[in-house]
Amino acid sequence: MTPLPVFVLLSLVCFCISDDRLTTAKLLNARDKLVSSGGVFALGFFTPANSTVDTYIGIWYNKIPQPTYVWVANRDNPIKNGSPGKLVMSSNSDLVLSDSQGRTLWTTTNNFTSATTGTAAILFDSGNLVIQLPNGKHIWQSFDYPTDTALPDMVLPLSTNDGILRRLVAWKGPDDPGTSDYSMGGDSSSDLQVVIWNGTRPYWRRSAWDGSLVSGLYQSITGFILTEIIVDRGGELYMTFTVSQGSPSLRMMLDYKGTFKFLAWNSNSSSWEAFIEHPSPICERYAYCGPFGYCDAAETVPKCNCLSGFEPDGVNFSRGCRRKEDLKCGNNDIFSTLRGMKTPDKFLYVRNRSFDQCTEECKRNCSCSAYAYANLNNGSGAADQSRCLIWLGGLVDMAKFRDGGGGEDLYLRLASSTVDKEINVLKIILPIVASLLILASICLVWICKSRVSGKRRIKEIKNKHTRQHLQNSKLNELENESIDLPYICFEDIVTATDNFSDYKLLGKGGFGKVYKGLLGGGGKEVAVKRLSKSSGQGADEFRNEVVLIAKLQHRNLVRLLGYCTHEDEKLLIYEYLPNKSLDAFLFDATRNSVLDWLTRFKVIKGIARGLLYLHQDSRLTIIHRDLKASNVLLDAEMNPKISDFGMARIFGGNEQQANTIRIVGTYGYMSPEYAMEGSFSVKSDTYSFGVLLLEIVSGLKISSAHFMTDFTNLIAYAWSLWKDGNARELVDSSIVENCPPHEVLRCIHLGLLCVQDNPNARPLMSSTVFMLENETALLPTPKEPLYFRGRYDEVEDQRDTMGITLNKMTITMQEGR
Ligand SMILES: *[C@@H]1O[C@H](CO)[C@@H](O)[C@H](O)[C@H]1NC(C)=O
Ligand SMILES: *[C@@H]1O[C@H](CO)[C@@H](O)[C@H](O)[C@H]1NC(C)=O
Ligand SMILES: *[C@@H]1O[C@H](CO)[C@@H](O)[C@H](O)[C@H]1NC(C)=O
Ligand SMILES: *[C@@H]1O[C@H](CO)[C@@H](O)[C@H](O)[C@H]1NC(C)=O
Ligand SMILES: *[C@@H]1O[C@H](CO)[C@@H](O)[C@H](O)[C@H]1NC(C)=O
Ligand SMILES: *[C@@H]1O[C@H](CO)[C@@H](O)[C@H](O)[C@H]1NC(C)=O
Ligand SMILES: *[C@@H]1O[C@H](CO)[C@@H](O)[C@H](O)[C@H]1NC(C)=O
Ligand SMILES: *[C@@H]1O[C@H](CO)[C@@H](O)[C@H](O)[C@H]1NC(C)=O
Repeated sequence: MTPLPVFVLLSLVCFCISDDRLTTAKLLNARDKLVSSGGVFALGFFTPANSTVDTYIGIWYNKIPQPTYVWVANRDNPIKNGSPGKLVMSSNSDLVLSDSQGRTLWTTTNNFTSATTGTAAILFDSGNLVIQLPNGKHIWQSFDYPTDTALPDMVLPLSTNDGILRRLVAWKGPDDPGTSDYSMGGDSSSDLQVVIWNGTRPYWRRSAWDGSLVSGLYQSITGFILTEIIVDRGGELYMTFTVSQGSPSLRMMLDYKGTFKFLAWNSNSSSWEAFIEHPSPICERYAYCGPFGYCDAAETVPKCNCLSGFEPDGVNFSRGCRRKEDLKCGNNDIFSTLRGMKTPDKFLYVRNRSFDQCTEECKRNCSCSAYAYANLNNGSGAADQSRCLIWLGGLVDMAKFRDGGGGEDLYLRLASSTVDKEINVLKIILPIVASLLILASICLVWICKSRVSGKRRIKEIKNKHTRQHLQNSKLNELENESIDLPYICFEDIVTATDNFSDYKLLGKGGFGKVYKGLLGGGGKEVAVKRLSKSSGQGADEFRNEVVLIAKLQHRNLVRLLGYCTHEDEKLLIYEYLPNKSLDAFLFDATRNSVLDWLTRFKVIKGIARGLLYLHQDSRLTIIHRDLKASNVLLDAEMNPKISDFGMARIFGGNEQQANTIRIVGTYGYMSPEYAMEGSFSVKSDTYSFGVLLLEIVSGLKISSAHFMTDFTNLIAYAWSLWKDGNARELVDSSIVENCPPHEVLRCIHLGLLCVQDNPNARPLMSSTVFMLENETALLPTPKEPLYFRGRYDEVEDQRDTMGITLNKMTITMQEGR
């Protein structure tokens, strides 16, 4: 049987209202349903799977075969014994559900006394049921009375100022929509955090809000993007989430076991797939690790640990941890900074404090055990955006996040003697490390000055580093997996590249030369990267790194096809992209018209997604460190593909945030903190992305001589135009005619956010992608990027001592190409 006759049969049997609204003239009977205009959701009577007696009014996905109820009206008051019920729109604009005996089982209470004709209850494609007056005013909506599910764009307040409790309340059982003890919503004592409650006891808690616009962003194979955001509307916080166009159906719900889930409909397997669940089964449950203990999610298998300066109180963590050294109070205590922490619960929210005042607040009160500070910078310029949290007494429900997984700095009070002891241990190691560093620095300066190839020694130091990192359990886990990355033998590569002939040379990069090659009988075009010999890695280490990098697969990253080692040669074989790199188009007056605005916007979004993948969606956190127009290749459809990713790893720079003695990068694309202090993080890539974004919009090079008279560089130029409301003047003249002003202005605005001096003020790539994908997302106001402007002379001086000159566009301290 084909589906069609079945469908016809069904529509003959069921004289359904296939309308999307109820009016006073039209009621809903037991067999009827409302269907939203696009057919996404339906509202009607249903009986849960394993119950034959109880009937409810609910909303479900109309097109999804598995019954999935997102809202239930009479959850605690079912229609019993299969008696037919009816839902009517009363003359005073309320929806009323009654059973066959005329008993009212559920009703809305709008307190409209006068009768209004033309009022309707409309089911929208968002899944929202709305009572709408003839003048279009909404007087009631089901989104204000959620059951256990939140749908995209539904807004859940974290406070309950209006007296309506807007929490998600779980079903009692898989087939029982009744209200259970599990609920999820704002913690009314602070309005800063989201909690799952088991009755009145917290069961799981999310970190206090720290001002970030986006707290989660996920990208699946199908490319959908989901974002949880907390929005601040006039000082009140709301939780909501959005999905990008073309996403599968998504819902956020609290299941009957008290587990919070994000689910996506997979139409291939015809099932809901959960891709976020809290609490995770291991140590995420509320206060699981006890006072002063935390759940260490940075471990391969998360487990409880004690904060530094603490030890387990007893054999396990059932009583948490105790101080190794009691506090003496006064000036005998110091504060230790713990990074990437989920802040503990039970804080005191002190308003209107600067960071220093917040520190003082905690310092002067002996019972204060920790503090944390954030700037809830929501772009409003409101007087008080400070968030000073202090803790008196025990610290419970903490976690340490994986690198790049968020979290904030927690300042923990410790007796100075505790730290002294730890320092004593360090005293043995420190001199060794220090002398190595000094030696390395001397070498570095020497290399830069003379540019001779005495690079080995530094590399060996770096290399020890790499070896330690290879012991890291995450790597081992990955290494054990098999990978079918072909080893390609050196002779084949020599043949393919005509013995590395100059005419096959495609380009030179910081890490070596790239040749075009024809591999095998089929004549497959590939790009061969011949790594400069200075990486100093052994063949095994190299292989391990390559295998890791080969696992990074994303449509905005260049694909690695194979590798080769031969004596001290190391080669990587990539897919060959005929359209060369972005700079070949962008900065070439004859070719830049190929890049119309649509293409440029696609390129910008693609780069952002690729970078996001490197930073947080792949299993390794990779900081690119040399993102620039020439490292973005374009395929035949002008899709951007980031190249040279993972090079920083191969060259031994795989720390998450670190100070490096070897600076790789390109002047202009390097963030101030990286160029000056060698300190890099994911935010250094954000900076480079911001520069690239401004270049793509303007068609101007960051270092173009064009600016040297009035402005130090493109950033200063862009800022000056933007500040005066003339940002449109920045737009490349070849596209300015045909680009939507709001899109291009938004990109400039975002670019300026990314190039702010303070790394903390720059958005994460997750927020960046979100702001690019969502036209309605609020953009904070950027701060003026002063660094390369105000301190230009200083920068120049520094640059001299580092051996970089302005004309040398790219600096790689080791290569000196
Ligand atoms: C209904 O109950 C049966 C037996 O108890 C169970 O196997 C089945 O999964 C239930 N159906 C649903 C939808 O929960
Ligand atoms: C309607 O009126 C009743 C009684 O006056 C009151 O308790 C209730 O809060 C009102 N509801 C709304 C939605 O205003
Ligand atoms: C929720 O609380 C009840 C009673 O307080 C308890 O029996 C139950 O185990 C708790 N649930 C979880 C998941 O901890
Ligand atoms: C930012 O927060 C302040 C108070 O905290 C509020 O008045 C303002 O409306 C918020 N601005 C935005 C854009 O949300
Ligand atoms: C569903 O199947 C199609 C075709 O086989 C595939 O392209 C798509 O990625 C699959 N979607 C999911 C979510 O697995
Ligand atoms: C910790 O140890 C106590 C006593 O030995 C035991 O009762 C408790 O279940 C243990 N807790 C955990 C989390 O292992
Ligand atoms: C915050 O404190 C400063 C003084 O420290 C005071 O001038 C200002 O009025 C306060 N602002 C608010 C909103 O309380
Ligand atoms: C510390 O602060 C708490 C809360 O503000 C207060 O109750 C306590 O008296 C303070 N203690 C001291 C020594 O100031």
